Amino acid sequence: MAFKPAAWPRRLRSQEWFGGTSKDNIYHRSWMKNQGLPADLFDGRPVIGILNTFSELNPCNAHLNDLAQRVKHGVYEAGGLPVDVPVFSVSESGFRPTAMMFRNLAAMAVEETIRGQQMDGVVCLVGCDKTTPSLLMGAASCDLPTIMVSGGPMLNGYFRGERVGSGTHLWKFSEAVKAGEMTAAEFVEAEASMSRSPGSCNTMGTASTMASMVEALGMTLSGNAAIPAVDSRRRVMAHLTGRRIVQMVKDDLRPSHILTRAAFRNAVRTNAAIGGSTNAVIHLLAIAGRVGLPLTLDDWDAWGRDVPTIVNLMPSGKYLMEEFFYAGGLPVVIRRLGEAGLLERDALTVSGGPIWDEVRDVQNHNEDVILPADKALTQSGGIVVLRGNLAPGGAVLKPSAASPHLMQHRGRAVVFQDIDDYKARIEDEGLDIDETCVMVLKNCGPRGYPGMAEVGNMGLPPKVLRKGITDMVRISDARMSGTAYGTVVLHASPEAARGGPLAVVRDGDIIALDVAARRLHLDITEAELAARLAAWTPAAEPPAGGYAQLYHDHVEGADTGADLDFLKGCRGHAVARESH
Ligand code: FES
Repeated sequence: MAFKPAAWPRRLRSQEWFGGTSKDNIYHRSWMKNQGLPADLFDGRPVIGILNTFSELNPCNAHLNDLAQRVKHGVYEAGGLPVDVPVFSVSESGFRPTAMMFRNLAAMAVEETIRGQQMDGVVCLVGCDKTTPSLLMGAASCDLPTIMVSGGPMLNGYFRGERVGSGTHLWKFSEAVKAGEMTAAEFVEAEASMSRSPGSCNTMGTASTMASMVEALGMTLSGNAAIPAVDSRRRVMAHLTGRRIVQMVKDDLRPSHILTRAAFRNAVRTNAAIGGSTNAVIHLLAIAGRVGLPLTLDDWDAWGRDVPTIVNLMPSGKYLMEEFFYAGGLPVVIRRLGEAGLLERDALTVSGGPIWDEVRDVQNHNEDVILPADKALTQSGGIVVLRGNLAPGGAVLKPSAASPHLMQHRGRAVVFQDIDDYKARIEDEGLDIDETCVMVLKNCGPRGYPGMAEVGNMGLPPKVLRKGITDMVRISDARMSGTAYGTVVLHASPEAARGGPLAVVRDGDIIALDVAARRLHLDITEAELAARLAAWTPAAEPPAGGYAQLYHDHVEGADTGADLDFLKGCRGHAVARESH
């Protein structure tokens, strides 16, 4: 059903602060005027909060102040009042123990930042992995008119003439050093060449995936995902976003209108087509939870099955985001989904119209970057959801990053109790392991790590790498960086730290993986599994105090999005009573 805009003019929520002659109204206007704002800016026009995740300790977002200025230009032009609002910026590359532990904290802060203050609409300036889902989760729980704009990816990296991608070549070079194919000095020399400009990771890692997800969901202007951070058209995107949010406020076009099952179906299929990150699974489940939509792992598996991976970008393919932009970017992919009958064409976007209208006329300018269907990287590119006695709640695998010869495999388990155990033993030449084994890592799930570290793509043992082997089956309750690759089974649920079956796997157990059958099986009897589970006790004491305790006590499993249980749902944007 087409969206019906609200009547305009009408009284907006910001007028609860600014509109009137009471002591409180004067208090709010007067304090704002210390910034030199003329009186007519408080006349009932839309007040737009520009939620800015700028931080110099979040290098992927360190250029966002420039884009905030461009958004402001657009808001002023359209007759709104823009206000800069810094929000919690979660950096993937710096935050410890893991950025994921703080996604929900950032979302909670964003939600209260919006609801508690004098805003009518929201622009979310995002970039690095967790900033995109955290801001959308918080905004969705408030449901004020909201639009996202990404910071954009870095320019291509090059090292000694070879294209190098953020993250992807970190893993590749690291393994090359272990295999004796690259010196440590060359590895250090390569580091500057990987990060040539402002922006987020230039591979189809989690940041680019999430930028694509919010575009496919309809939460950005069309074309947002791929424009490089330093391209002048990124500024244009920010400027146009500023103009658009003012009209969205007038129309009262909110996330709950846009974030429908149809929108999520489009996003899940888009993720398959771009070879997107497995992290998108967790983030989209969490975002859906904020608007009260049912979205499950089974939806992910079912919706992505028929979608070929056609975007030839690292880590699944060869190119980087810069080339994706030159080829036409995400609108070309969405058009291709539409032509293949795989798009909900009527899904509403922030434009106020159907997504199909945004993409129907775009052209593919490079068929080696956005591939024809018969040359797809994999014909069934959707995230695979595996189940079995080892992961009754589900586990995920990304087919475009996996090795075809390992998609059906039986092997002997080599078990690491946690990531420290893995680090301590993986380079031991005496470790009883070869390429036919299945590497198992425990206690790295949402509660176990805590925060669910991106360590599921454990590097292979050096003695295996030296044979020229580059992939083995790996299973864990951890996540994997979107820039990583391999036959890696992730997010096994329930996680080991909650007493899931992964917790009781032992060295020497036989594990069977069958991707086509969606099966992950620990080859022991039911009675033996039940006995081991009955004897299980938690490996670690829960944290005492602080956010770590709150997180531990309330975080849900990866299979439902790893949100905090009390943050799920939409609590709206009603204005609280005045306190002065
Ligand atoms: Fe920030 Fe990759 S580390 S986008």
